[in-house]
Amino acid sequence: MLRPIKNNFKGKDVVSLDQFDSQSIIRLYKETASIKKMFEKGRFKNRPYKILDGRIAGLMFYEPSTRTFSSNSAAFKRLGGQTVEHQNPLVTSSAVKGETMEDTTMMMEQYCDILVIRHPVKGTLAKVAQVASIPVINAGDGIGEHPTQALLDMFTIYEKFGKLTGLKGLMAGDMLNGRTVHSLIRGLSIFPGNTVYLLSPKSLRLSRDEFKLYSQMGVKLVEINSLKQIPVDCHFWYWTRVQKERFSDKKVYEKLKLSFILTKKLVSEKAGKKTLLMHPLPRVGEIEIAVDGDPRAVYLTTEAKNGMYVRMALFKLILR
Ligand code: CP
Repeated sequence: MLRPIKNNFKGKDVVSLDQFDSQSIIRLYKETASIKKMFEKGRFKNRPYKILDGRIAGLMFYEPSTRTFSSNSAAFKRLGGQTVEHQNPLVTSSAVKGETMEDTTMMMEQYCDILVIRHPVKGTLAKVAQVASIPVINAGDGIGEHPTQALLDMFTIYEKFGKLTGLKGLMAGDMLNGRTVHSLIRGLSIFPGNTVYLLSPKSLRLSRDEFKLYSQMGVKLVEINSLKQIPVDCHFWYWTRVQKERFSDKKVYEKLKLSFILTKKLVSEKAGKKTLLMHPLPRVGEIEIAVDGDPRAVYLTTEAKNGMYVRMALFKLILR
C-alpha cells in the first residue's frame, strides 16, 4: 500500500499521482515557485544552494531518458547533493549477471539517501517501494505512470492560469500506452471541474477499465476522433508521441505514428490566445517545427525547465 502524501512529504515514496491530495500539490508548487524565483533571479548562479549537502541520490534508468534523467540529476546537484548514476543498468549493473531488482535496490540503499528509478514494466516501482527503506521516486514504469512528469505539467498550467480547477484541456496521441497522460489525468482528477478531450486513433484509446476508473475519480473525459472536434479555447493542448517501444508489430506503429500532427495551421485555427501548447517530449514528427516559435509553445522551454524546479522542490520536501 502506497503511503498518501497529505502535506507531509518527509521520507515518502512518489509512485503514483493517487498518493497526492490538492493541498499537497499546492504545497509542492509554493516550494517550486520559491525555488524557481531564487534561481531565476541568479541568487545561486555562482554558488550552490547547499540544502542537500552530503546527500546522495541514486538514479537507475532501465529505459532511455533525456529530460527525466538529466533534470533529476541537475535538481539534486543544484541543491548541493551528489548522485550515483546508472543510465542503462541492464548493461552497466550486475543485472547483467542476473541480480534481481530487489537485490539491486537493497544494494543501492546502502549507498544512497533516495532512489529515482525508471523501469519498462508497469508496477515495478510499487514493488521496489515495498522493499526499499529509503524514499523511491517513479521516473516512469512502462505504460503505468510518470508522476513527476504530471507534477511538472500541472505546475506549468498552474503557473500560467493560477488554478487547477475548471480547466478544459486536450490530450492527443497515444492514450493507451502514454504513462504521462495516465498520471496527468489522475492529477487533474484531484481538482474539481476539469474536462479533458482525448484525441487518439481508436486502437490507442485509454483501456475501458482506465477510462471508467479515471471518470469515477472526478475528471470529465470526452473521447474525440478528429482534429475538427477539438473544442475552442482550451487552457492546454497536451500532445504526445505514439509509443513505438510498446508495439510488438512495428508495421502497426508505422501506420499510426503520425495520425494527428500539431501544425501551425491547426494552432491558428483552433488554439485560444492563451492555450498552452505542451508535450512531455521526445517528439518524433507529431509537432511541426514551425510551431516551436509560437509564444504559446512551452514544450522545449518552460515545461522542460519546470521539470528541474519541481524535482528540486520534491527532493527538498522529501529529504528535509
Ligand atoms: N518527458 C520524459 O519522460 O522525457 P524523457 O523520456 O527524455 O525522460
